[in-house]
Amino acid sequence: MFVRRIAVVGTGYVGLTTGACLASLGHRVVCADVDALKVARLRAGQVDILEPGLTDLVTEGQAAGRLAFVEGARAAVGDAEVVFLCLPTPMGAGGAADLSAVESVARDLREVLPYGAVVVCKSTVPVGTSVRVAALLDRDDVAVVSNPEFLREGSAVRDFLRPDRIVVGSDSPPAAERVAALFAKLGAPTVLMDAASAEMVKYAANCFLAMKLSYVNAVAELCELVGADVSSVTDGMGYDRRIGQSFLRPGPGWGGSCLPKDTHAMLRIAESVGVDFALVRSTIEANQRQRQRVVDKVRDAVGGTLAGARIGLLGLAFKAGTNDLRDSPALAVAELLTFAGARLVAHDPEVRRPLVGMTVVDEPHEVARDADAVVLLTEWPQFRTLDWTRVADLMAGSVVLDTRDHLDADALRRAGLVLRGLGRPQ
Ligand code: UGA
Repeated sequence: MFVRRIAVVGTGYVGLTTGACLASLGHRVVCADVDALKVARLRAGQVDILEPGLTDLVTEGQAAGRLAFVEGARAAVGDAEVVFLCLPTPMGAGGAADLSAVESVARDLREVLPYGAVVVCKSTVPVGTSVRVAALLDRDDVAVVSNPEFLREGSAVRDFLRPDRIVVGSDSPPAAERVAALFAKLGAPTVLMDAASAEMVKYAANCFLAMKLSYVNAVAELCELVGADVSSVTDGMGYDRRIGQSFLRPGPGWGGSCLPKDTHAMLRIAESVGVDFALVRSTIEANQRQRQRVVDKVRDAVGGTLAGARIGLLGLAFKAGTNDLRDSPALAVAELLTFAGARLVAHDPEVRRPLVGMTVVDEPHEVARDADAVVLLTEWPQFRTLDWTRVADLMAGSVVLDTRDHLDADALRRAGLVLRGLGRPQ
């Protein structure tokens, strides 16, 4: 394997995972961030995001002299042969991706990139961004490559080291080959294509995943009404290899830092070429309704009115295994409940800070104290083994609404609790 000199700009969960994993593959990596404090913490081996395996890779990489952290993109570039841009592309005006971070770094690097370097856009960016970055760099000797990431928060290291596929797109095939070679050791299927196609793959994949979830949430609603059980239905569907078992679990709606942003961005991309992408639009709308549906179920559970009701919430993160609250369906449900007049007490094993509109407690059973209903919103494994007799004793009411089909029905029944869920006749 050729050892390459690599710079990674941005140390969010994508940048840091990319940098640390590339170093673990043997490359020499310098990661940059604008946040001096973050850089200092990373140098000391302190990783603020919850990613299994990442702290070890950061520590080992630095100890082996293959991984370093510096402040500012320019400082990272040095003699790098390949420069990864792993910058935030948040939802901007009208739902389109805000590219200002990517553009300002491209401008900043223009004069310092070594001759013949390859710049890789790892951030999720609209079709045409590689071309735009190339124009901003305005360097004939520098090629731009799109290499979208498919990392899930909470399993980013595993996803990086055992990818389903690697997508590399460029209008300069030799540059695409050079980037693909960095990952050769992973032995994953590698798909080479033009830049626009690679940029599209990411949106098309994330929108498809969101669509799959909105679909399954809608099927769950129907199951309740026709007397079917959605877990049996998805099990039966999932054995069809064209469908697959994964990503078929109903929930309080999909969230996080990626699917909401990317579905909105896809709508804007379609709009910009005169297309109304109705499937994606209704995927988003169905997701909003799903949150409201959870609130309606809570209202039912407390006898028809939420005003003054005390509700205990189990979980706040957008999914288990992360401490990320960005676009968390749990928070959206909490907000709707508060708006309807409910008083909330919440617990999340990884979210301990005070939040507006609710009391956050350190101990999970405490959400049940005097609660008219308890709602599970994030599928943390430890919630399965709560002391349900204690929960029942603490509660004023008796209904536990499990929005993730996560709890052991028998254990709750034995404690005298009434378990309700999604997608099953109640
Ligand atoms: C997602 C994609 O899965 C990654 O492939 C992609 O790289 C990433 O976005 C990104 O664009 O960077 P992530 O946002 O980390 O990853 O989270 P997922 O595991 O995909 O979950 C998304 C949402 O769907 C969560 O709210 C989760 O609770 C929900 N979900 C997921 C369900 O409700 N049911 C399921 O069966 C699966």
